Amino acid sequence: MKTVYNFSAGPSILPKQATEEAKAAITDFAGTGIGILEMSHRTKPIEGMVAETESLLKELLSIPAGYEILFLGGGASLQFCMVPINLLGANSVADYTDTGLWASKALKEAKKFGKVNVVCSSKDSTYNHIPKTFEQTSGATYLHVTSNNTIYGTQWKEFPKANTYLVSDMSSDILSRPIDVSKFGLIYAGAQKNMGPAGVATIIVKSDILGKVERDIPTMLDYRTHIPEKSMFNTPPVFSIYVMNRVLHWLKNLGGVAAMEKLNAKKANLLYDVLDNSKLFKGTAAKEDRSTMNIPFVFKEEAVAADKKESLEKDFLKIAVEKGLEQLKGHRSVGGFRASIYNAMPIDGVEALVAFINEFEKKTLG
Ligand SMILES: Cc1ncc(COP(=O)(O)O)c(C=O)c1O
Repeated sequence: MKTVYNFSAGPSILPKQATEEAKAAITDFAGTGIGILEMSHRTKPIEGMVAETESLLKELLSIPAGYEILFLGGGASLQFCMVPINLLGANSVADYTDTGLWASKALKEAKKFGKVNVVCSSKDSTYNHIPKTFEQTSGATYLHVTSNNTIYGTQWKEFPKANTYLVSDMSSDILSRPIDVSKFGLIYAGAQKNMGPAGVATIIVKSDILGKVERDIPTMLDYRTHIPEKSMFNTPPVFSIYVMNRVLHWLKNLGGVAAMEKLNAKKANLLYDVLDNSKLFKGTAAKEDRSTMNIPFVFKEEAVAADKKESLEKDFLKIAVEKGLEQLKGHRSVGGFRASIYNAMPIDGVEALVAFINEFEKKTLG
């Protein structure tokens, strides 16, 4: 079978070991003789698996006491509204950093529930960098950051110091590097990049920030509904949580997030080095803010005539697929190409891409 490397931005590549284990559990979960898709969430094996997933996450991210972990449906996008509904009073202010499309969607939702101050934005430069100097609103309830901007390939290398606490959408880089959870009141992430399949979002919330808003929160949208029920107030996305469980085991066996951070830096550097030395391609993100997860790149304007660009892009993507390098098309707002090299992307995949970029450049420029 041909080796295929999947550079999709999400849902994305998962560790082979985790998907093999998930495959086996579909017909027989933990030796019960019942498939995981057919088993009630109110059974000991499933309750145990969900509790184990929670403790693995606590261990891997060194989550301190006082924080709760939830596994909820609705993706990261539901958190765009759940966060302000639970945390932001109608007359209070939250500070939001506008560093990309997902960040702008988050702040748009928050405006429906309270006052939002957009403290900085890199929209005018197609979100190609992270604005780092800005003033926070005095008395703001929280400061929202999108830790990694999936589309534009930028990443907060150091998080800003919030006057109160940080809230972060970590959908596209959670578990890629160690973080100091104590700086955050709430972290949320859709699973379908570094954690598992689509269908579940992980929420890490400091319990003492909850219960401070006046509004009557619909039951399902209230974090306090789900905390005592251990994410089982209603039927949780059991299978997605199980795949996450296997991914977390895989990560732990590899040495955890510190080991993963080193590996991610090595992979990203390989790709950035070839782009920095290329006469045909260039990365689009500002160097100091470059993501280790998503790497957008385009043809240099001076290397490719405008009327040849589209057909050369098609050529690149077509040959890439023939070589087993899949899903490299860039997001429409940046154009060109994007390689998403999440935790599960093996270094061999990045090496294969680098070799292809070099080969394509030679063929095109001679
Ligand atoms: C940073 C970020 N936030 C939020 C989302 C939306 O996630 P979901 O589809 O789980 O709602 C994405 C999806 O790619 C993302 O990259």
